[in-house]
Amino acid sequence: MYRTHNCGELRISDLNKEVELSGWVQKIRDKGFIMWVDLRDRYGITQLIFDQERTSNELIESAKKLNREFVINIKGSVIERKSKNSLIKTGEIEVLVTELTILNASITPPFTIEDETDGGEELRMKYRYLDIRRNPIKENIILRHKITQEVRKYLSDHSFIEVETPYLIKSTPEGARDFVVPSRMNPGEFYALPQSPQTFKQLLMVAGMDKYFQIVKCFRDEDLRADRQPEFTQIDCEMSFVQQQDILDTFENLVKNLFHNIKNIELEKFPVITYDDAIKNYGTDKPDLRYDMTFVELNNVTQHKDFNVFNKSELVVGFVIKGGNSFTRKDIDKYTEWVKRPQIGASGLAYMRMQDDGTYKSSVDKFYDQADLKKWAEVSNASTGDILFILSGEKDKVRTQLGALRVHVAETLNLKNPEDFKPLWVVDFPLLEWDEETKAYHAMHHPFTSPKLEHLSLINSDPSAVRADAYDLVLNGNEIGGGSIRIHDKKIQQKMFDCLGFTKDEAEKQFGFLMNAFEYGAPPHGGIAFGLDRLVAIMGGNEIIRDFIAFPKNNSGRDVMIDSPSSVSADQLKEINLKTTL
Ligand code: AMO
Repeated sequence: MYRTHNCGELRISDLNKEVELSGWVQKIRDKGFIMWVDLRDRYGITQLIFDQERTSNELIESAKKLNREFVINIKGSVIERKSKNSLIKTGEIEVLVTELTILNASITPPFTIEDETDGGEELRMKYRYLDIRRNPIKENIILRHKITQEVRKYLSDHSFIEVETPYLIKSTPEGARDFVVPSRMNPGEFYALPQSPQTFKQLLMVAGMDKYFQIVKCFRDEDLRADRQPEFTQIDCEMSFVQQQDILDTFENLVKNLFHNIKNIELEKFPVITYDDAIKNYGTDKPDLRYDMTFVELNNVTQHKDFNVFNKSELVVGFVIKGGNSFTRKDIDKYTEWVKRPQIGASGLAYMRMQDDGTYKSSVDKFYDQADLKKWAEVSNASTGDILFILSGEKDKVRTQLGALRVHVAETLNLKNPEDFKPLWVVDFPLLEWDEETKAYHAMHHPFTSPKLEHLSLINSDPSAVRADAYDLVLNGNEIGGGSIRIHDKKIQQKMFDCLGFTKDEAEKQFGFLMNAFEYGAPPHGGIAFGLDRLVAIMGGNEIIRDFIAFPKNNSGRDVMIDSPSSVSADQLKEINLKTTL
């Protein structure tokens, strides 16, 4: 036996108990005649004390050999601390050590294993097992565990069955590149790792499973960002005999239940916004509702004067920043420079201040008088002390630019409170999106998504106007889930493949198995998948999913700890029938 208690367990009520603890040496304070050691394990920290009066010389000698991250086992008695530490749960006691065994030594760790560390990201990734010893990362992993358990419990309690689907499959059309795996037994042929279990979960509905879920790894070979990893985890769900509202209700309740049980937060009913309104009002399909700055369209009140920039713009649009009249000239210049960066691409930023004396001051005073500006203030609901930021240009572009500026302003003004949670549903996504590069329509969600039946007739005449029964769950400006009602009719599915430019042969080759299955009685069905990593990160008050994954990849898709990807031997390549080009 290595321990009677863990390092986070002992309290003042345990005084005088003889205990045995094991853990890692976090910190040593050696005052000569007295020595304290902080002993750490997953559960907490317990202070150990060795002193010349009460500890044998021999024991003190061995204690002097200790160093950071040594693994030790001690026996001792629980005593009351002289100076208590209210910051830790065990802060009222310490253990007077009577026996010490060094279970394993440690070389000096490459960074300090404390809440605040001196280790840079790359170094911490290389020694991730040491990083996980630190509270912030450890807590994130524990939070992930708790959320995963709650999700399993909730779904299982609501009749969902967890079914595993294969990892060695054939390409799924989720829109990213596949990771491919050569097949040794089938020379020249490849498996693809699933971008999601989409087709399998639909087949499980045909199979009559009725309600399916899986907490499942998905693989996408796409460029990485803070909220993207090449392998990530979905809470993947599918239900039969449902319409969109049934799915929204079921999964809104799942998310509410999670926040209730994990964070003790009662979420209100989630607002539902159409995709078109989200774009019009926030310039994005994943609006952050923690702050306002809703867009106001200003064409009617700006295009009657001689200001050509506005007159020739398809859209003049802005938002009000409460209290923004306090911005200095320099602040505004900074925002202007920001929107002019090539990544944003605006040609400039116009503004109007609502001054304390009730007058207006704009960057385009040359063209607009006080009466004009008053109208702007009325239309945008701006009051004294506010500022109105305005961009103009081609409709889609300018909305995206203003959407990015809205997020940037919120970041600069610290309006993104990580402990404030504002979920919403975005619904009625377009079925198709036009891709300039390939000059073809792509499925916006995936090709199994059902068009709104009342829009079916538009598929050939006006494809971009067709809306789908597709929805996303957005939380604090992040897409944390997405799904749709599926097509369950073979003819409509074929029409969809036509529309996406698949020949009959191609469709048959890639998705024949699904279309065939639809001939054997496919129930109406639909589902959703949540990005578990994103959900956990946001619930943990962060947007960087790496910090919530035990062993993540870095931004170049590398695992620097195990040094992967890496080359394989020529023999290995030969075995799988691949020629080496190295
Ligand atoms: P979708 O492609 O929208 O839908 O993915 C669902 C959710 O998965 C998360 N996600 C990611 N998280 C981390 N890294 C990534 N690279 C990554 N890509 C996606 C997002 C996203 O909302 N089969 C459909 C679901 C369905 O229709 O039921 C699908 O995969 O949070």
